[in-house]
Amino acid sequence: MKISSLRKHAFTSSAITQSDIRRVTVIGSGQMGSGIAQVAAMKQHEVTLVDVNQEALERGKGYMSKSLKRVAKKKFPEDAKAQNQFVEKALGHVTLSTNASKSVSNAGLVVEAVVENLKAKQNIFVKLAMEAPDNAILASNTSSLPIAKIAAPLTLSQRKRFIGLHFFNPVPQMKLVEVVRSDEVDQKTVDDAVAFVKSIGKTPAVCKDTPGFIVNRLLLPYMMESIRLLESGVASARDIDTAMKLGAGYPMGPFELCDYVGLDTIKFIVDGWYKEGAGLKGNKLFESSKKLDELVQAGSLGVKSGKGFYDY
Ligand code: 3HC
Repeated sequence: MKISSLRKHAFTSSAITQSDIRRVTVIGSGQMGSGIAQVAAMKQHEVTLVDVNQEALERGKGYMSKSLKRVAKKKFPEDAKAQNQFVEKALGHVTLSTNASKSVSNAGLVVEAVVENLKAKQNIFVKLAMEAPDNAILASNTSSLPIAKIAAPLTLSQRKRFIGLHFFNPVPQMKLVEVVRSDEVDQKTVDDAVAFVKSIGKTPAVCKDTPGFIVNRLLLPYMMESIRLLESGVASARDIDTAMKLGAGYPMGPFELCDYVGLDTIKFIVDGWYKEGAGLKGNKLFESSKKLDELVQAGSLGVKSGKGFYDY
């Protein structure tokens, strides 16, 4: 279903411009993809949100509507009409599509936010890099896979336009986007990606293509050490959370955050790095733990499954 009609633009110049980059295609309409689509649409970018079926797209639209209503309530307290207008205006900048090839044909920026699976991401880019304009920026929202590995099957010209744009959950609220540069990316692509991040009201932090970039490289050892602290009986999950919130000023304690991010996601990331992360392989900080393994095995994945370190 379309929220607004597909907008066609002639793509003439070979150097991408900031106005080209206002046409954004987001692949994957889960929490992250729909969040990225939403924040771009809120700043009047023309966004196409793509997924494999209509059901997934409708779910993504639901995430956006709910979050937009939250933002609107804060922006226009006591003014229901203005709130509705704000929500409708943002949604009016989003087109839903199940046709990935068509959706990138005039995109200035393609952001992929699908499942953390290297092959799946590579397949998407191999296909879409051919269909997108030959100056479009190609970006992955991967949280743990090397940007250079995702881009490896692409041509050199495509790899020069390939970058990491790592958003944080909940996307509408978290102000940071990591801009991840591989060794092959053009400086212009980096500069354009930084400008895009600023244009959607976020703050960029540029970093090299190393495991975890900045935030997850520091967050994952913290989470794993918290689990080990719990396992060794030093304190309860509740007390560790209270300690970090009130003693270190974190908005969530480590166990609340683990449950929020998803225990399967955490396990997937640390297992990958422990096995083959550049410079991290075999590092005890990233070794999974009995407690984490048991919870994941039992399907207790955190907030999304109703149970993790806590019950929801
Ligand atoms: N859409 C829009 N606004 C949202 C929102 C959403 N989905 N979720 C929260 N907000 C806003 C609220 O409206 C509220 O705004 P206000 O302060 O201006 O009134 C603000 O966020 C706080 O929300 P709440 O009052 O409902 O709840 P909390 O105060 O408990 O905050 C939180 C919730 C923002 C999630 C906060 O606990 C937090 O910042 N937690 C840490 C989150 C974090 O670390 N995220 C990164 C995870 S790592 C990651 O994503 C990387 C990945 O690769 C693994």
